[in-house]
Amino acid sequence: MMTDLSSQVVAVTGASSGIGEATALACARAGAAVALAARRSDRIEALAARITEEGGRAIALPTDVGEESQARDFVERTHSELGRLDVLVNNAGVMLLGPIESAPTEEWRRMIHANVFGVLYCTHAALPLMREQGSGHIVNVSSVAGRVARAGSGVYNLTKFGVGAFSESLRQEGVAMGVRVTTIEPGAVATELAAHNRPEVLEQMAKRFAGVTPLAAEDVAGAILYAIGQPANVSVNEVLVRPSGQGG
Ligand SMILES: NC(=O)c1ccc[n+]([C@@H]2O[C@H](COP(=O)([O-])OP(=O)(O)OC[C@H]3O[C@@H](n4cnc5c(N)ncnc54)[C@H](OP(=O)(O)O)[C@@H]3O)[C@@H](O)[C@H]2O)c1
Repeated sequence: MMTDLSSQVVAVTGASSGIGEATALACARAGAAVALAARRSDRIEALAARITEEGGRAIALPTDVGEESQARDFVERTHSELGRLDVLVNNAGVMLLGPIESAPTEEWRRMIHANVFGVLYCTHAALPLMREQGSGHIVNVSSVAGRVARAGSGVYNLTKFGVGAFSESLRQEGVAMGVRVTTIEPGAVATELAAHNRPEVLEQMAKRFAGVTPLAAEDVAGAILYAIGQPANVSVNEVLVRPSGQGG
């Protein structure tokens, strides 16, 4: 059955590609008004235009979620322009893998900027609005890498384990505010995420995932829709979803 999100407002970070784009589209098709954040304004503007052409409601708000003032503007403009804030999907992220020794430390900063500070700043801006509303739902996109650490993934693991711990703490604090929290932990998904890695890292990843058919971004969007489409008395706290062929 199609989840009915009509009259809901959903803010999605990292909506310019992959899981965020698929989630925003799926939410809009389920009737939600959506706010789209990412740095590539052309991509989110094109997605907003597509949703509008389909009869939906969408606004594109170019944002670097790791910059506190931009994250706050995104969340507050979503609320002021679309009238509410029912769901915040903290999805924006970067995955730059490779051994810790001799890693370009700029890669660490880029991951912590988006995967950690992005989640923190957007959440911080959303909570007072959701408290005042008496309801809200925050979905944090972590990863299997937030549950299982591996050599060659140390700092990405650090960011995603951090998201898992933060989400559980937030879940407990959210209970008194009527705010539900869900952590989504996908395995391999066919998106642009891996493509930003150095060639030697890409080679390693190809070996590790040889023979695994990855999930589509739409599969993960389906898991997010499942979580946010539940009745108010149901709080789906975690969804770990791997491709059927992925062992580790
Ligand atoms: N693909 C997988 O296998 C997989 C598995 C587990 C978890 N995940 C998680 O899923 C989430 C989405 O990734 P994806 O697979 O859909 O990859 P993707 O296609 O590369 O999408 C990443 C999104 O994050 C945005 N982003 C990155 N840094 C940002 C920043 N500083 N400010 C605002 N937006 C930013 C990108 O937009 P701009 O570049 O336009 O800003 C893009 O829209 C990530 O958190 C990732 O860790 C992915």
